[in-house]
Amino acid sequence: MRCSVRNPLRNVLAVVLILCACLSATERQPNAAYRARREALAAKTKGLVLMFAPTEASAGDAIYGFRQDENFYYLTGISDPGAALLIASASEATANAPARAYTEILFFPAQNAQQERWTGPKLNPKTANVTGITGFDRVQQIDTMRDEIAKLTVGGAVIYTDLGAKSAGAEPLEWLKRANGFTTARLQELRPFMGQLRVIKDAGEMDLIRKATDASTAAHAAVMKFMKPNLTEREVAALFQYEFSRRGCERPAYAPIVGTGFWGTVLHYSENSNTIAAGDLVVMDVAGEYSMYASDITRTLPANGKFTPRQREIYEIVLAAQKAAEDAFQVGVSAMRGPNGLHEVAAKYINSHGKDKNGQPLGQYFIHGLGHGVGLNVHDPGDGQPFKPGSVFTLEPGIYLPDEKLGVRIEDMYWVNPEGKLVKLSANLPSSVEEIEKIMASNVPAASAAPKGKSKK
Ligand code: GLY
Ligand code: MN
Ligand code: MN
Repeated sequence: MRCSVRNPLRNVLAVVLILCACLSATERQPNAAYRARREALAAKTKGLVLMFAPTEASAGDAIYGFRQDENFYYLTGISDPGAALLIASASEATANAPARAYTEILFFPAQNAQQERWTGPKLNPKTANVTGITGFDRVQQIDTMRDEIAKLTVGGAVIYTDLGAKSAGAEPLEWLKRANGFTTARLQELRPFMGQLRVIKDAGEMDLIRKATDASTAAHAAVMKFMKPNLTEREVAALFQYEFSRRGCERPAYAPIVGTGFWGTVLHYSENSNTIAAGDLVVMDVAGEYSMYASDITRTLPANGKFTPRQREIYEIVLAAQKAAEDAFQVGVSAMRGPNGLHEVAAKYINSHGKDKNGQPLGQYFIHGLGHGVGLNVHDPGDGQPFKPGSVFTLEPGIYLPDEKLGVRIEDMYWVNPEGKLVKLSANLPSSVEEIEKIMASNVPAASAAPKGKSKK
């Protein structure tokens, strides 16, 4: 049967379909939001910025999944591999160089129909309405980059770029050097500027962080109702991933940690291969990523739904340490570390409450930092300054007692709102002993031991 849609409309539909394929994997903020970030970066650097997205090959083979470089995504909202970005701040004429207007150019590789058979349609310089889609007035083929750099650096300039050894730009920078692309320019590290910008989240970013957090708290709530002895850690990790994925997360924000008993005292345990025993505490540090934005949440549950007196004692010290840090928070004054640091507040609380089995204070068992920024990365770059409105971070005290096979971590997501108030983004997920025991009271015991799971330490 012949399609009755007239040609122009069919073309529009085709463009929409290609667009969906290229851009719909993630929710994108309006183009103006990304443009504002590029302009802010140009104003800060007062030079050129050169940035590369990884290629599918440099990101590993596409069978392992492609994830866009975070700084590139922050400035463009574009997920396509192999792209590049050149920004030049406006500058006045000098004795050596003519005046320069603010300039931004997005580069794509030429269309590669053969590759697209393997990994799907990608934006390219000839994509219909590519300027409207991307919000860049100039979208060019990547092999024009060398000449554009030369034009923008007449008379000398500093080019800020990611100089990390394994950065996506390592190879193209080497190529540009060999091709004399930087004869009039000096390369300097871009990353500190990106940290300064990324530390303050705008309203669109907050929308995505909230979605990541809501999906993740819903997953934790589902696991609270599911947890019981004889499950494997892997089954629990799988349920988390199912629950946050069905709420729109594209992947876990980090390797899910489900550690039972002794394994709950191992900070970066993610093998998730043990079987959960009655009487264990289970540390579950699991959260999803929504449209590139992370969440980061930990709850610790008694496998059989009831804390022992010792588990409860340690758990309540950790929870109170988190509350002490929340209460100490002052916008513009508190940082994570340092003399006004929230870490100190939580560490002091832990060290002055409870004892280990030898009668020693518990401070030595809080072996990691209290928290970190969260955004496009679960450990987002920051500026080391006191928290300002727009900061997003975790508070995650923990006590780890390997000798007692007992680990507790409680981790929540926080945002400093425009009024400077600390808002707990994951507040809808219970964390008190009473609430957790109440939710778990109706859990049905597992019918039989799980088929696999390595023997426990
Ligand atoms: N989930 C990683 C962390 O808590 O820092
Ligand atoms: Mn964390
Ligand atoms: Mn975590």
